[in-house]
Amino acid sequence: MAKAIKKGKLHVVRLNVNGEEHAALVKANMTLLDLLREEFDYTGTKKGCELGDCGACTVLMDERPVTACLVLAVEADGHSIITIEGLEKDGRLDRLQDEFINHAAVQCGYCSPGMILSGKSLLARNPHPTEREVREAIAGNLCRCTGYVRIVKAIMAAAEANS
Ligand code: FES
Ligand code: FES
Repeated sequence: MAKAIKKGKLHVVRLNVNGEEHAALVKANMTLLDLLREEFDYTGTKKGCELGDCGACTVLMDERPVTACLVLAVEADGHSIITIEGLEKDGRLDRLQDEFINHAAVQCGYCSPGMILSGKSLLARNPHPTEREVREAIAGNLCRCTGYVRIVKAIMAAAEANS
C-alpha cells in the first residue's frame, strides 16, 4: 500500500474512483466512507451503522468488497475504488442492477448499493454461484425490507445471464 504523504496535520490521498483519478487533503481519522461522500460526492455509498455491521457502505477496493466506514482514507491511498455510481456504462445500468429492479429487490433502497456491489464481487469471482454461495456473499449486508429472497433471486438471475 502506498503511504499517504503528510502535509502538516493533513495527508495527501490519491485514489482512483470509478476510473477517475481523485486527490484530497484529509485528516488522519477520516474514513473512506466520508471521503467518498463528502469530498468526492459519491453519495450512492450509504452511511448506516459506521461500525462495520450493516454493509450499507460497501464499496469495491481493488475489486474486493470492503466496508468503507472501517477503512481510513489514508489506507485507500493508491488504491482503486468502485462505488455504485461506477456500474452504469454509457447511460445503461449494469445487468445486476436491472435484475434487482426486475425482481423488486429494491424497496427503501438503503442497502441496495452495498448489496449490489457484494453481488458484483461474487459474480466476478464465481460466475455461477449456488444459492448458498449467494447468501454467504451478502451475509455482511443487512436489509430490513425485503427478507432477502428477492435479492438472492436477482443475483441468481444475473448469474444465469452469464451462461
Ligand atoms: S455504515 Fe459501514 S458497515 Fe454500516
Ligand atoms: S431495501 Fe430497505 S434496507 Fe434493503
